[in-house]
Amino acid sequence: MSRVYLSPPDVGEDERAMLLEAFDSNWIAPLGPHVDAFEDEMAARVGVEHAVALSSGTAALHLALLLLGVEAGDDVLVPTLTFVATANAAAYLGARPVLVDCDPDTWQIDPDLVAEELHTRREAGRLPAALVTVDLYGQCADYGRLVPLCEEYGVPLVEDAAEALGATYAGRPAGSFGQAAVFSFNGNKIITTGGGGMLVSGSGELAGAARNLASQAREPVAHYEHARLGFNYRLSNLLAAVGLAQLRGLDRRVARRRAINQRYRAALSGLPGVRFLPVDGGGEPNYWLTCLLIDPEQFGTTREDVRLALEEQDIESRPTWKPLHLQPMFAGTPVVGGPAAAHIFDQGLCLPSGSSLSDPDLDRVVEIVSGLSR
Ligand SMILES: Cc1ncc(COP(=O)(O)O)c(C=O)c1O
Repeated sequence: MSRVYLSPPDVGEDERAMLLEAFDSNWIAPLGPHVDAFEDEMAARVGVEHAVALSSGTAALHLALLLLGVEAGDDVLVPTLTFVATANAAAYLGARPVLVDCDPDTWQIDPDLVAEELHTRREAGRLPAALVTVDLYGQCADYGRLVPLCEEYGVPLVEDAAEALGATYAGRPAGSFGQAAVFSFNGNKIITTGGGGMLVSGSGELAGAARNLASQAREPVAHYEHARLGFNYRLSNLLAAVGLAQLRGLDRRVARRRAINQRYRAALSGLPGVRFLPVDGGGEPNYWLTCLLIDPEQFGTTREDVRLALEEQDIESRPTWKPLHLQPMFAGTPVVGGPAAAHIFDQGLCLPSGSSLSDPDLDRVVEIVSGLSR
């Protein structure tokens, strides 16, 4: 039996054909018709006017914050329960991430804590330069609360939808809530280019500036003219071809991940001490990863023992994100709120969730996890 991975790439003949088409066209550069088509189809899918293909989700976050005016010495509100890239983007600009705890019922950034923090900071005359929300594990943050808060306080919102392509909130696609939003096409995401990202925005000005900064800020003249500091952040046309084929199969991938989630829930949610990442009624996740909490008192063994038992059978699972306020590199960074994210890290496990996972593989996971419970 071959190893079962957490969320491996799900690629096939369509991706291969599109990649060869790009190769044969000789558009082997960080621009070309596949980049254009990938951007157009992403913008249409997300319901946002502009999309800029980039070399990673991290690059997209960096440019989004830069273009929304984040500067050295600013504070940026960021959830503590996320991948490090969310906060790194602020740090690249010399800004200070302020790490906000999550709502234990949704695992998403807690809107009550955001409201309190914005209120206190306005009184003190120190509003943050931006709020970055994360649509964690493929489920949207509570935009019904967060968007009006950002409007009330005049704080730009960047939506880190790296994990959430294909999810919706109140019928609107993930990626359509901020002044800018970002997606990742890293190898473990719901669609992949093997490495890549996309910045989307309703602002043509912001998207145009992102495109320029991503191309070393080259001025539109024949010779090489540069008026400001730029980056080499564009996505290769070859990778865009893979992404385009992947995007066209997104609905199938979401449907498969949803079915995997439902199968796990049906088999495991009755076990003592097991609690799945709650699905918030406000939206429809893309079910990127199926995550659960394992209470060792009730279940009979710890999350880590379950992970190791799966590993022994060559099955990859992962602890949920280690909160950023517990990361050595963010020691001393301000934290807003209580211990919800730390509790999730103590007990949280992400199960194999890739859309290419077979039912017999899923059954093996279920059997091993069930076998460990009281
Ligand atoms: C929430 C979140 N933000 C940002 C990123 C960064 O994306 P990338 O790896 O494409 O730079 C990722 C994943 O990798 C992520 O999960």
